[in-house]
Amino acid sequence: MSISVALTKGRLEAKTVSLLEKCGYGTEALKDKGRALVFPDSKKDVRYFLVKANDCITYVEHGVADVGVVGKDTLMEGGSDYYEMLDLQTGKCCFIVAGLKDSSPLEKSGHIRIGTKYPNVARNFFRQRGMDVEIIKIDGSVELAPVLGLCDGIVDIMETGTTLKENGLVVYAKVADISARVIVNKASFKLKRDEIMAFVNDLERMTGNAEENR
Ligand code: PRP
Repeated sequence: MSISVALTKGRLEAKTVSLLEKCGYGTEALKDKGRALVFPDSKKDVRYFLVKANDCITYVEHGVADVGVVGKDTLMEGGSDYYEMLDLQTGKCCFIVAGLKDSSPLEKSGHIRIGTKYPNVARNFFRQRGMDVEIIKIDGSVELAPVLGLCDGIVDIMETGTTLKENGLVVYAKVADISARVIVNKASFKLKRDEIMAFVNDLERMTGNAEENR
């Protein structure tokens, strides 16, 4: 039986395609993709979709995709009706709390305002510390928000740290490590167990070398 795999577009895309190629998958269509969004594998009975991270979870939860490759950041923020099968050890970065120099939001008493693209992750982090937090949802360029005075700090992804540094922000805490994960639809796992396990095992064999894909 054929399996459908939802891949996350953007930062993870090239790393995932490279990993698939090293595992012997036929990724030519994914590498020369034009405006297409659905791609057949040239060597195996697999077809790929390229979707945004949040949509990757949605497609897998609804069983339209049997398998998804998506960042742990997106999994931590929402969705839980899937099996998380494998840490691909690539796309490594972390969630951090950052703010202006000498102005840690963690040291502030009383009400604090945190800007973030990840409201659930941020809310959980501060509430677990018993802090009175107001979450301000921001869709991008989150580093700008404390600089302009919209909030006391941010919860965001840090990969190289360059964006924080160039905007005069410093890290005050690490919230969690992040990397790419393989998720599987629960019903698909019953119906197509052998095909899905073959796919997961192929990727797992390469994850020891995944650092090379960064
Ligand atoms: C992410 C993240 C940071 C930046 C971190 O944003 O939100 O802004 O990357 O990377 P660095 O530590 O290597 O500098 P992204 O580039 O995805 O864009 P966005 O802010 O528009 O969402």
